[in-house]
Amino acid sequence: MSFKGVFSLKPGLSALSICCALFQTVQGISLQVNKSGGNASSSLMYGFMFEDINHSGDGGIYGQILRNNGLQGTAPDLTAWGAVGDATIAIDFDNPLTTAIPHTLRLDVASGTSGTVGVTNTGYWGIPVDGSEHQTYFWIKGDISGDITASLVGNGTGTIYGSTSIPVSSTSDNFTYVDASLSTEKAPNGDVYFELSLDGAEVAGSSLYFGLVQLFPTTYKDRYNGLQPRIANVLEAVEASFLRFPGGNNLEGESLDNRWKWNETIGPVQDRPGREGTWSYYNTDGLGLDEYLYWCEDMGLSPLLAIWAGFALEAGAGTPLTGDALTPYVNDVLNELEYILGDASTAYGAIRAANGRTEPWDVTIVEIGNEDNLGGGCSSYAERFTAFYDAINEKYPDVTLIASTNDASCLPSPMPSGAMVDYHDYNTPDGLVGQFDYFDNIDRTSSYLVGEYAQNGVEYPIMQGAVGEAVFMIGMERNSDLIKMASYAPLLQLVNSTQWTPNLIPFTQSPDNVVETTSYYVQQMFSVNRGDTIKEVTSDSAFGPVYWVASSASDSSYFVKLANYGSDTQDLSVNINGLTTAKLTLVGDDDPHAANTPDESPVVPVQSTLSSSNGTFTFTLPAWSVAVLAAS
Ligand code: AHR
Repeated sequence: MSFKGVFSLKPGLSALSICCALFQTVQGISLQVNKSGGNASSSLMYGFMFEDINHSGDGGIYGQILRNNGLQGTAPDLTAWGAVGDATIAIDFDNPLTTAIPHTLRLDVASGTSGTVGVTNTGYWGIPVDGSEHQTYFWIKGDISGDITASLVGNGTGTIYGSTSIPVSSTSDNFTYVDASLSTEKAPNGDVYFELSLDGAEVAGSSLYFGLVQLFPTTYKDRYNGLQPRIANVLEAVEASFLRFPGGNNLEGESLDNRWKWNETIGPVQDRPGREGTWSYYNTDGLGLDEYLYWCEDMGLSPLLAIWAGFALEAGAGTPLTGDALTPYVNDVLNELEYILGDASTAYGAIRAANGRTEPWDVTIVEIGNEDNLGGGCSSYAERFTAFYDAINEKYPDVTLIASTNDASCLPSPMPSGAMVDYHDYNTPDGLVGQFDYFDNIDRTSSYLVGEYAQNGVEYPIMQGAVGEAVFMIGMERNSDLIKMASYAPLLQLVNSTQWTPNLIPFTQSPDNVVETTSYYVQQMFSVNRGDTIKEVTSDSAFGPVYWVASSASDSSYFVKLANYGSDTQDLSVNINGLTTAKLTLVGDDDPHAANTPDESPVVPVQSTLSSSNGTFTFTLPAWSVAVLAAS
């Protein structure tokens, strides 16, 4: 039941006439929060949607910061690599590190050289040296008996931000594994390269082979093969509830063969071949299935695992799969789920245990595909959804399954009881406001994930868009008995390599340059101020330009979320009977186009403390603003 329903309880009376009988109007907008009753609100409501787009994974949140470190792919090149001293570099095809990493970096050292020689890597458009202890891992083949120096060097300045000498004893017969740490000083920007160097006289006239060179800062929660803390910390501050991964279009792949293959993203990184991602760059898959699940565990997020469902982006490139052709892929998903959920005595659970995780993961929500209503997927989706649904539901009846669209024409009819649907909405700010009552009017038989939504059409989130998103979110929260989960998308953006704008959190490789955008603040404000029950609100005003929703937590704390989608300030009085003090958090800007970008961040939330007069809090909503009143 939505509060649209509550307002229509008295036939013939409009909401306005009910409220005006209840209130002595004050100037501005009066809201009265009804402390009794209400609808249960989903505890999972606000989460993240992540896929590797805009180098959000490789070059972004994934902690490994050297680019092209495994020379992966069918057509490798020397992007990001350089040579030091009297030596040249080449891709070597004859000295594979592993089957998955068949190419290595050859350093041919000139005969008779006496200076320093080595290799450099410029990272993903720079290296964000954050001042933490860094760890480097690589394999080396060649006759070395001496020190290799690992350094982080300022481009053009020569400033050394970290350096260590690593004693190495290796031969030209086999690859030798090297693992070393280096203390660093924080760099002022990302214009830094990594260097591995040694005395040329020691290796003059020979070739050295470097395999899968890796460099990590101290990772988020100090996890091996973990996340970049500078980005993870900004996410953690949202206090989100779930992580939808690994896509998105990047799950689907352009073709059958380019789909995200879970089994190639697990185990030692030197056994992961990577894949041609959907978003125009190669994915290392160093951020693989287990790393996503550690991310969830370390950040307190419920995993929402999307599984490949027989359809690639380019219809006709081997998909959609139907009939018997689906069976191997359904079985593959069952193997994936056994890897995640099976105990260590199962075939795939044993592989997980061998990979370092004995306990099964806690995965209870699985989405079948992505946007199967689009691109030629709709007509086969009911069959594909049913094949995956039946197989998963039979083995894992407690797992909640989500269809990748809410378009009834693509779905089985009826939908299995308890299955959810996914709705995506990229829209203009006006369009998002126009969607305010969308969820008041939907068919209420299935619960919803709103797996992707955001303003579109701008480079960086702007204030007007953030208010439009807040209005849309208020519409969702008013119906959060039905709208169980919602995630803004896309989440992250390395601004040097962008395929989609706007994004919630843009960043550069300058260590501190992780941008909290206007939309970020709205997500954070809505997420950290959550109730368990949505409360009825009566008012003397209709919705627009001000929108609101109220909730309570344990019947003791109250949250009123407000959005002012307009250029006039608005006076508010909010009555919550018996409550005396409140914290008001407010973000807004007179300029609807105001944006936080990598160059400037003019918009920041402000907080104030309010006291009520007989339970009534009065305050002003600035133009183009979003506010949360948290009262207790
Ligand atoms: O978020 C960017 C893309 O938008 C997603 O990959 C896809 O699901 C949607 O079309």
